[in-house]
Amino acid sequence: MERSPSAPPGGSRSAAVPLSSVEPAASGRISTGIGELDRVLGGGIVPGSLILVGGDPGIGKSTLILQAAASLAGGETTDDPRPVLYVTGEESPQQIALRASRLGVSPSRLLLLAETNLAEILRTAESCGPQAMVIDSIQTVFLDEISSAPGSISQVREAAGRILMFAKPRHLPVFLIGHVTKDGSIAGPRVLEHIVDTVLYFEGDRGQAFRIVRAVKNRFGSTNEIGVFEMKGTGLSPVANPSALFLSERPEGSSGSVVVASMEGNRPILVELQALVTPTPYGTPRRSSIGVDPGRVSLLLAVLEKRAGLPLIGQDVFVNVVGGIQLDEPAADLAVVAAVASSMRERAVDPRTVVFGEVGLAGEVRAVAQVEARLAEAAKLGFTRCVVPRGNREKIAEVGGVEIVGVSDVREAVDAVLG
Ligand code: TYD
Ligand code: MG
Repeated sequence: MERSPSAPPGGSRSAAVPLSSVEPAASGRISTGIGELDRVLGGGIVPGSLILVGGDPGIGKSTLILQAAASLAGGETTDDPRPVLYVTGEESPQQIALRASRLGVSPSRLLLLAETNLAEILRTAESCGPQAMVIDSIQTVFLDEISSAPGSISQVREAAGRILMFAKPRHLPVFLIGHVTKDGSIAGPRVLEHIVDTVLYFEGDRGQAFRIVRAVKNRFGSTNEIGVFEMKGTGLSPVANPSALFLSERPEGSSGSVVVASMEGNRPILVELQALVTPTPYGTPRRSSIGVDPGRVSLLLAVLEKRAGLPLIGQDVFVNVVGGIQLDEPAADLAVVAAVASSMRERAVDPRTVVFGEVGLAGEVRAVAQVEARLAEAAKLGFTRCVVPRGNREKIAEVGGVEIVGVSDVREAVDAVLG
């Protein structure tokens, strides 16, 4: 909620006001000109919001935010004549200019400021009155009156607090870029999560071309949304059809691979889940999983063992979700079950089959939400068979050209998937 302008945060007058007398914040969102970024923001930038953009070094934070800043400053989506202020504490203006030329942008209203002293930054912002501001990165900014080094917890937290107090009454949206560091030598973006309105994190492997931007907190939208981008020679380019991208290198006809129809926010995404089951050479079996919670995988392996009679004792099990995506919804359970059974039995899943469903401890396959969207995505990408919970099967209409098979427990599911 925005505060009413008559009671600015930090101002001396702060009287209690009846809720009914407060004008709800104008919903006028500003488009960044990048559809996938607008989507994770909940439909564009909310004026006065503080947006934290976190991720590993080199993943593409500066690139994405420079693209958005350039689009705002170039008047592509707004007719706001005010400049956009890009504060760079890490790179020189020349480096930013080099990146901008790579991206093919040079809007005259994009102002670069190489400064790390927060008082100076805010003074400049006050005098140039920008429509939006970028701080790249929050870990380089410092306050004179705090003795600890830039990047320390107290500096980062206090700087963000000051920026918040500056931005809110002016309705100025601010992007704060923050690095995630593994060794903890500088304060990570996590210390800021409660201060800001929106937290976006980059996911994905630097070794791969695609990047996923996920909202993990959003006071102005859903936190399930993801934006999918591909890093190209000319910056981050939105991926219109993520399912096709995630399935592009799928080894058809090999065992242990299955496609799951997963929901990311309101959007269905098809991803490949792989399992490899091999005899344990010695000692305790190894179980490792990437992209699915390891605890969930252990539970599903126990269910498979006990309810479907799969002899997994003495087997190492590796599970991997292709494309660096994280599947954290229960509907992915059936895919883990299917992939493990497929690898164990060395029988490939039909490449035109999609699965989804939650698995319970009794081995039952439970209904999940948003079935129509999942099926429609599968049909769109040319899948011809879907193995779904029986509870869902009974309620859904036919989807053109797709055979829908309802299963009620893991044993039935394994039979339906492996044929
Ligand atoms: P960058 O935005 O600098 O990352 P961060 O700010 O998160 O540290 O992106 C760095 C990587 O992106 C770098 O390795 C180069 C690559 N890149 C491209 O592949 N294409 C481009 O157009 C740009 C600008 C960067
Ligand atoms: Mg950067």
